[in-house]
Formats: sequence, structure tokens, C-alpha cells
Amino acid sequence: MDTDRRSFIEKGLKVTTAVHICGLGLISACVKKENSINEDEGEKEVSPPEDLMQEHGVLKRILIIYDTCRMNIIDEKSFPSETLTNSAKIIRTFIEDYHEKQEENYIFPRFQKANQLTDLVQVLLLQHQVGRNITDKILMLSKNRKRTEGENKNLAELLFMFNKMYSPHEAREDTVLFPAFRKIVSKNEYDSLGEEFEKNEQKLFGKGGFELVVNKVADLEKSLDIFDLSQFTPKL
Ligand SMILES: [Fe+2]
Ligand SMILES: [Fe+2]
Repeated sequence: MDTDRRSFIEKGLKVTTAVHICGLGLISACVKKENSINEDEGEKEVSPPEDLMQEHGVLKRILIIYDTCRMNIIDEKSFPSETLTNSAKIIRTFIEDYHEKQEENYIFPRFQKANQLTDLVQVLLLQHQVGRNITDKILMLSKNRKRTEGENKNLAELLFMFNKMYSPHEAREDTVLFPAFRKIVSKNEYDSLGEEFEKNEQKLFGKGGFELVVNKVADLEKSLDIFDLSQFTPKL
């Protein structure tokens, strides 16, 4: 069998296995990033901040989906209702129940113990809680296909609030918290945390989960016609 063909079949098997592990439903938050281009060459470790930043990319893409849905609601334009529900489910399973738990269990306590950036950590923690409350409401309202005008207004406000809070939230983590993290832990701890993150991901979601989530987000973008990246380039 030639190399290309074998590689194609192996990739197919990996995807099939991952789909079985993760289920066909809305990603119960599948996560493991493919850390290596070629596993035969050995896996390349992803550091804890790099791991979390990749997950922020998923969050950012859903914030754009939320904003698109919000504008459609305001303009009274129809859009696939399940797109919003499924986006909120990704926020729940992948961001709140996985990504934020990693931050809460492994990142924030180390800053508190080191007495560094504690005010920031406190705000971030509170925002996680508020975000979960907003998601409860978004899930409830988005599932209702016959929303009243008032409920639509409420839903649009919730989407706006979520976006307004999480854009600066993730940006602050990326630019302040995560860069400082390397300085408050030893190299050994940093490396072993990277391994622990990977182990947690593997345990919960199996391999290739991150790609499955990203593909799911891409499908949601396509359903709103916002997948094509070039549409965002201004024509000067
Ligand atoms: Fe966070
Ligand atoms: Fe985060």
C-alpha cells in the first residue's frame, strides 16, 4: 500500500474512533488537540497556556456566531434556531465545563497561592459564574421556537452581555494571566502541568476532540453564512 493511501486510511480510522468516543451529538466537549503532525515522530507537548489559548479561539468564534445571531434577532431576520442552541451547548460543554474548569483547578489557585494577580483572578472567577448563568438563560430562550417580542429582546441582550464580558475576559487571560503563569511555577511544574492537561483531555474526550469541536463550530458558521473568512476583509 502506498504511503499516501495508508496515511489516508489511518486518518479515517482515527476520525471514526474519535466520533465513537465523542458521540454524534453536539460534542460533549471533545477536546484533545492533535499535538503532533506525525505521531511517528513523537508527540510534541503543548504548554498549558498554549492549550488554553487554542480553546480561546473556539470561544472567540462562538462570540462571533452569537453576535451574528443577535443582529439577526434585532433585524427580525430568520436564522436556523438550532445554530444558537448548539453554539450555547459548545459554550457549556467545551468552555464552561472543561476550559474554565482547567483554569479554576490548575491556573487560578497557583496565582492565589503565590499572591500574584489576585484581584484579576477574583474578577475572572466571578465572570465564569456570571457566564454560566447567562448560558443557562440563552439555552432556555434559544430552545423556545415561539419567542415573544420581549423574549427576543431579552435573548439579544443576553448575547450582547456575554460577548461584552468574554471578549475582554479572554484577552486579559491571554495577555496578562497566561504570560505571568510561567513565572510563578517552576519549569518542572510547568512541564508536568502540560502533561496533566493532556491526560485530562485524553481521559475525558479521547484524541482528536479539539478538531471535532472546531469542525462543529465551522458547520455552525456555515449555517449562518459567516464561514468564508474573506468576507471580513474590508474593501478599501
Ligand atoms: Fe477564564
Ligand atoms: Fe479562558
